[in-house]
Amino acid sequence: MSQFNFTTLGQFIIEKQSEFPFAKGELSRLLRDIGIAAKVISREVNKAGIAEIIGDVGEINIQGEDVKKLDLIGNEMFTTVLERGGEVCAFASEEEDNMVALKGTHSKNGQYVVCIDPLDGSSNIDVNVSIGTIFSIYRRVTSVGTEPTLEDVLQAGNRLVASGYIIYGSSTMLVYSTGKGVNGFTLDNSIGEFCLSHPNIQTPKDGTIYSLNEGNASDFPEGVQKYISWCKEKDKETQRPYSARYIGSMVADLHRNLLKGGIFIYPPTAKAPNGKLRLMFECIPMAFIVEQAGGIATTGKERVLDIQPKELHQRVPVFIGSANMVNKALSFS
Ligand code: AHG
Ligand code: MN
Ligand code: MN
Repeated sequence: MSQFNFTTLGQFIIEKQSEFPFAKGELSRLLRDIGIAAKVISREVNKAGIAEIIGDVGEINIQGEDVKKLDLIGNEMFTTVLERGGEVCAFASEEEDNMVALKGTHSKNGQYVVCIDPLDGSSNIDVNVSIGTIFSIYRRVTSVGTEPTLEDVLQAGNRLVASGYIIYGSSTMLVYSTGKGVNGFTLDNSIGEFCLSHPNIQTPKDGTIYSLNEGNASDFPEGVQKYISWCKEKDKETQRPYSARYIGSMVADLHRNLLKGGIFIYPPTAKAPNGKLRLMFECIPMAFIVEQAGGIATTGKERVLDIQPKELHQRVPVFIGSANMVNKALSFS
């Protein structure tokens, strides 16, 4: 392969722009801006140890958890980039109690709304384990030029325009979908560009990996407990026992399972009766990606993308991943 034979994220976005004739380039600019924010966060993540910016800032976020410095850096980076870009009227973040109406000169005319989990897997920051960023994009429902409202943000996943994630792992990758398949880009630090490395990602229908926090097993619903026992049984035909893999960063756990085939479960527990993961910031965007790659995402009762969100920080249980594995898991309930 010629050393110039690659497609950058910017080139790819422009090539795909014709698939959205109604968007007049705004969505392309927004995706490009997200790519820029991702590069800056990636740089900050990589230098975290050196710059001594690892650690708590002593604040507690809306979820009652410690906020790490990188969470704040990611949050600020997105606010700045989206405010400057002018395509977005409002954004919501796991790190903000309320929706933020952006204050850029052109923000009120922005047609889009963005939801983010700026730093996913924050408990792994200090220990140099893969973390991520999750984003989703909706078209606003209120009129362009007016103040955005909560109605613009609280939209069901089946109305998503695009979603994606960035994984800061052994390399940094950006994976996204605009509803026409899933594509993955790897950051080439030598040229400072995300380059198409995983075109048209399809997740295997079957897999041999199950991912959940088994430490909570005694609190899991009976159906989940039975499914875990089934995963551990010996059976040549179905390649059991399966492998248990759990990082504790949803992005990293799902990225691995997306490529290799697997199931990720965050069920209800006694401590977290609705599960732990956030509908708007984690479950909807990741469900969109997984479905676009041919997988399934459900709460155990309904398709994640069909839930009408009631509040920004709503949590839901989630069973997500390879289609046959999710269906099998549900058959125990
Ligand atoms: P965040 O760092 O954004 O708060 O998300 C952490 C989430 C998710 O990434 C992960 O899958 C889950 O918390 C892990 O939870 P447990 O430690 O309860 O297993
Ligand atoms: Mn998260
Ligand atoms: Mn987070």
